[in-house]
Amino acid sequence: MNKRPHFHFTPDSNWMNDPNGLSYYKGEFHLFYQHNPKNCYWGNMTWGHAKSKDLFNWEHLPYALNPDSKVFGDIDGCFSGSAIVERDELLLFYTGVEMKTKKLNEFGNIVTVGSNDLIPSQILAKSIDGINFKKIQKLSLELPKSYCRSHVRDPKVWRKDGIWYLAIGAKEDYQGRILIYKSKDMKTWQLLSIIKEENMGYMWECPDLFEIDDTDILLFSPEGIGKDGQVSISGYYTGKFNYENGEFKHNSFERLDYGFEFYAPQTFLDCNKRRILIGWLVNHAPLPNENWTGLMTLPREIKIKNGKVYMYPVEELKKYRIEELVEFSQLKSTSNTFDFEVTFKNLDNFKILLFKDNNNGLSLTYSSFDKKLILNRENVINGFKPLETFGTIRECQIDGEKECTLRIIVDKCVAEIYINNGEKVMSCVVNPTSNQKNVEVIGNIISKKIYKLNK
Ligand code: FRU
Repeated sequence: MNKRPHFHFTPDSNWMNDPNGLSYYKGEFHLFYQHNPKNCYWGNMTWGHAKSKDLFNWEHLPYALNPDSKVFGDIDGCFSGSAIVERDELLLFYTGVEMKTKKLNEFGNIVTVGSNDLIPSQILAKSIDGINFKKIQKLSLELPKSYCRSHVRDPKVWRKDGIWYLAIGAKEDYQGRILIYKSKDMKTWQLLSIIKEENMGYMWECPDLFEIDDTDILLFSPEGIGKDGQVSISGYYTGKFNYENGEFKHNSFERLDYGFEFYAPQTFLDCNKRRILIGWLVNHAPLPNENWTGLMTLPREIKIKNGKVYMYPVEELKKYRIEELVEFSQLKSTSNTFDFEVTFKNLDNFKILLFKDNNNGLSLTYSSFDKKLILNRENVINGFKPLETFGTIRECQIDGEKECTLRIIVDKCVAEIYINNGEKVMSCVVNPTSNQKNVEVIGNIISKKIYKLNK
């Protein structure tokens, strides 16, 4: 049975992880991603590539970066990175890796023997047509002595007041760090500052520093701080980044998505100055009978409200609402592809069941005792073993005595739940059976809008 979602980007086939090089170039959106050309498990990291005019209809393109260069040092993998558009050219910054030691793992992919056997290089590649990329140079980024040589990766580059800045994930003595470099010409880079916090994981991956309405936001993905069975989670600091001395005064770490498998998000600015985020919905293996692994989140516009990051699906999704329905029960005929918004007076006697069959499904309930929304997928996993390592229950703090609006997008094997216009989000991958397609919504409903989605 085909569980491939319609609105969440998936690779043509095989394994996919992080979104890379998100950009808007010559009138089109570009999405690059970590891809394994050989099979459905992590390895042989190559940059997959797709472009789109509206962020939902994607055209798959040839690989942008292949791990094939001894000279540039990416013979064993082209790891994550970012893109910028400069004078009509599309520039990619990424981490190439060589492995000092190698072995084949159980899936037939080459991995290092020891975790410190990676040799990373930061590399610049360019394109003038947005399709063919040429590797140009290795960046020379001075690394402080105490830092682990193997774990420096995922450069994100941006410009501010005519100067280039680069943030990169690093590790010092089993503590995650982010190094910030600056450059006038993109050739010589100077270490400007180090962002750190002790006991916040052993490695910080995929940093992204940007500004919305005078607030600086640093997104990153610390490895080793996860709760709920997740080893790594993605989150952010908000605060003020001083571009003169590199100091970042920030608030405490906040989680970005309260669901199960969200990781390694990246953002970019589009032509309308929207800050758009795409994250990776982690799977460690394909759903049964599928030939692809890994999904991207819906593209989400980020805003700042009361000092917190709000995420909401980009407006373009509404173009695909084809029919307004009156009752939730009518969603049964939509093959689990729909979008609804519902406002509750409060969350007393509240319950939502998605992918429902009899009385089972993906359930969302509220505990007034500890003021938590509870998402439970134990009945919609259906033999999809690897996901169970992430567990089946997630919780998220919400004041259910107040009015509460939910927007829920269901797309074949995934649900994204946006709470109070994006104040919090819970994303969730499931493996429904062919009978699991009803929807039930119970509670003190004030208003609702229900739509089928179709391409
Ligand atoms: C995050 C990550 C990055 C790395 C890439 C390799 O998921 O581990 O730090 O560049 O994946 O695929």
